[in-house]
Amino acid sequence: MRRYSRITGTGSYLPSRRLSNAQLVSELATQGVETSDDWIVERTGIRARHFAAPDECSSDLGVAAARNALQAAGLQAQDIDLIIVATSTPDMVFPSTACILQNKLGAHGCPAFDVQAVCSGFIYALTVADAMIQTGAASKALVIGAEVFSRILDFKDRTTCVLFGDGAGAVVLEASDKPGILASDLHADGKHVGILCVPGHVSGGNVLGDPVLKMDGQAVFKLAVGVLEETARATLAKAGKQDTDIDWLIPHQANIRIMQSTARKLKLPMDKVIVTVDQHGNTSAASIPLALDAAVRGGQVKPGQLIMLEGVGGGFTWGSVLLNM
Ligand code: UT7
Repeated sequence: MRRYSRITGTGSYLPSRRLSNAQLVSELATQGVETSDDWIVERTGIRARHFAAPDECSSDLGVAAARNALQAAGLQAQDIDLIIVATSTPDMVFPSTACILQNKLGAHGCPAFDVQAVCSGFIYALTVADAMIQTGAASKALVIGAEVFSRILDFKDRTTCVLFGDGAGAVVLEASDKPGILASDLHADGKHVGILCVPGHVSGGNVLGDPVLKMDGQAVFKLAVGVLEETARATLAKAGKQDTDIDWLIPHQANIRIMQSTARKLKLPMDKVIVTVDQHGNTSAASIPLALDAAVRGGQVKPGQLIMLEGVGGGFTWGSVLLNM
């Protein structure tokens, strides 16, 4: 009998500090940075985001999301035999955020590692966990997306600092004889490194280069709308499904206009698209599991439904996962 992996629990966590556009706009004005609620809403669909406290790291956000997912799955930390954390804002250069999180969770001994694929990180991590479960290398995995992007924003750059937020989402993925994950599709094209990056790095005890986010928004936008349709179609084809079979599309939450364009291309009405970008902003690797958990807890996503998850981000990376809940 074929061995599949299924999501058996979801969880998420948002730091308590929530900033509406109006609050962010007035904070930025005190630094001489001019922007407006109207511009942010019209160009991105974002209305609010959460920022972590100075002493909160990705592992803190991730462990809170993981505990919620474990509770939803009816499991204890000791039951877990694999932890993968998708993050571009790790607690330290090393060890991995997954190891730090594992210790906070008290799940000692199981393999734990980070996946770095920026905003596609959760899709990459879920695909790796699915493959490890299919081969029998793991049976009960925690897959987490956790980010503190507020730490890598340049609050003097209005073209980027209004877009991102902090948060974490998690799923428990368990081995099953019933199909959960049906197909996935991953891609990267390193020739686009420069359009979305944080070029700073540690060398000889100093940070060299600029350790804040740089983005050519229009170039990213153009690439994103193309590849999100392509990857969704590739995954549907691998699973032998049609776009009309999709119950819910849960795309990376970067910009409502990118989501609307993807939905149009896939001939899906917007009422089949889970949207949380308005409340969370772009939380990079955390955005998809945050949106999934909101949709599960909100009663939109139900057991048995067909869900398309898809991500796109720095690298350039992109990919999708089609699954039955
Ligand atoms: O998570 C990884 C994936 N990331 C993404 O998917 C992001 C993709 N890109 C985008 O979402 C959009 O390109 C942005 C939201 C970043 C920008 O939207 P846009 O419609 O492409 O705006 P633009 O860059 O063409 O800028 C239009 C104008 C410019 O002014 P001028 O040159 O026309 O006078 C900008 O200077 O808007 C100005 N502008 C702002 N004005 C007020 C840029 N940022 C702001 C701002 N407030 N925050």
